[in-house]
Amino acid sequence: MASLERENGSMFLDRVKPLDAILATAEKKSLHRTLGAFQLMLFGIGCIIGTGIFVLTAAGAQKAGPGLMLAFIIAGLVCIVAALCYSEIASMIPVAGSAYTYSYATMGEFLAWTVGWALILEYAIAASAVSVGWSGYFTGTILGDTFGISLPAWLTAGPLALGGAPGGFINLPALVIALLVTWLLMIGTSESAKVNAVLVLIKVTALTAFIALTLTSSEFDAARFNPFLPAGVFGGWGTGVGAVGAAATIFFAYVGFDAVSTAAEETKNPQRNVPIGLVGSLLFCTVFYILVAAGAIGTIGGQPIMGPNGVPFPAGSEELARQCAMPIYADALVCSNEALAHVLRQIGFGAIGNMLGYAAILALPSVILVLLFAQTRIFFVMSRDGLLPEGLSKVHPKWKTPYVVTAITGVVVAIAAAFFPVGQLADIANAGTLYAFFMVAIAVMVLRRTDPARTRTFRVPGLMVIGPLTILGCLFLFLNLPSAAMLVLPVWTAIGLLVYFAYSRGNSHLGKGIVEVVDDIGGQEHDFPIDTPDSHR
Ligand code: ALA
Repeated sequence: MASLERENGSMFLDRVKPLDAILATAEKKSLHRTLGAFQLMLFGIGCIIGTGIFVLTAAGAQKAGPGLMLAFIIAGLVCIVAALCYSEIASMIPVAGSAYTYSYATMGEFLAWTVGWALILEYAIAASAVSVGWSGYFTGTILGDTFGISLPAWLTAGPLALGGAPGGFINLPALVIALLVTWLLMIGTSESAKVNAVLVLIKVTALTAFIALTLTSSEFDAARFNPFLPAGVFGGWGTGVGAVGAAATIFFAYVGFDAVSTAAEETKNPQRNVPIGLVGSLLFCTVFYILVAAGAIGTIGGQPIMGPNGVPFPAGSEELARQCAMPIYADALVCSNEALAHVLRQIGFGAIGNMLGYAAILALPSVILVLLFAQTRIFFVMSRDGLLPEGLSKVHPKWKTPYVVTAITGVVVAIAAAFFPVGQLADIANAGTLYAFFMVAIAVMVLRRTDPARTRTFRVPGLMVIGPLTILGCLFLFLNLPSAAMLVLPVWTAIGLLVYFAYSRGNSHLGKGIVEVVDDIGGQEHDFPIDTPDSHR
């Protein structure tokens, strides 16, 4: 009894994975340091720009109106301080598993498990959200505008009960793209650095054209920014409205930069280049996002559709879907599934609007690929640690990929994409991501205390300010998510705890005294979703 109590007392912080064992593995890989700040930035931008800006601009405007611009600044600032924390820990523990591994090495297995479990929300659900975003452009630009085909409503959105469009039942294009990307990953596709660079160029060109055309358009009218904050700055905890409510949703537009933190060990002069790469890509996107929001709102307006009590209808809600089905809102920004293309069409640039649509259709699948890849690698590491069944990490003899876990993840991602609306998926993904960022900031501060002498190729300047700012920023955005999305995290964590105590704790390799750090797929040097010609030796 006494010993049981002792075990319970320390249980939440025990089983810290020795950092030296982790680092020995990283050492063994001894990758050449070939990446510079510019390449890291390209990787970052490749993962960051996606459904957030191309699609969620509409949901953000419904929550904040023109205050969406402020929302992009708030969310961007939280991400930048989090990116600094990631820079320090990623260049110190440059192995697969991201926040899960960092937590394992600092706060022990239990908390690492909760982080790994939350990362499922970040990566898998985010992949679903991007798939739904892609579907909006595919249905509107390719099927609708290019071929004049209009799919029946029941095939293009999830059911109304879950916040889809009236008449919706299943989002077939979202289901198909998620399964297609899963298939590509299973057979071992990874994106070359060249393909990534081309896709970044396409996305950035599309956004630049959007900004240039909207800001110089004769339709642009400063009066459209008035009122700037129709729902206020702070709409109330859990309401998901107001500028901070929009920030909590639009945070999704920045998610993904952490997926490239594992490139730290392949970076030349990481002290300088890792933070420049991470923070630089975030800053770059922040500026673009604010200008895009200004262009969209200045030309066609972005005032929310208000409910009878003067509060915007919740984005993705049944009520909003019904309003949007009414002819007076047919052209409203907040009702569009392909916000940016819609704006260009409205101001007389139909052909360029379609080209922007093609850019999104071409580039978004690579965001899905990176997110799904990150998810499968985290599952892979967790199963190699014994916390998930080892069968999951089975590597395919020919494809050399963890095909079992990839297939299972892909099917779940596809099902979520088929039935849920993009805004809700993004909010849920944000909840998981914010938890992971929160824990990473704590891990960085803990490590400074427990292991002050260890070499850090990058040190967060003023960590005692930046660390708490990250923690508070994440907490603040989390509390401004709609309450349903907020609730998903504790419920999901509770399910995770059941799994942990029913299976993982007893099967943990570390718990059995085996300290084995596997960083990668056997025989396959594939720890980074984007393969550079020189990155693996
Ligand atoms: N930031 C990525 C996107 O907006 C996940 O699609």
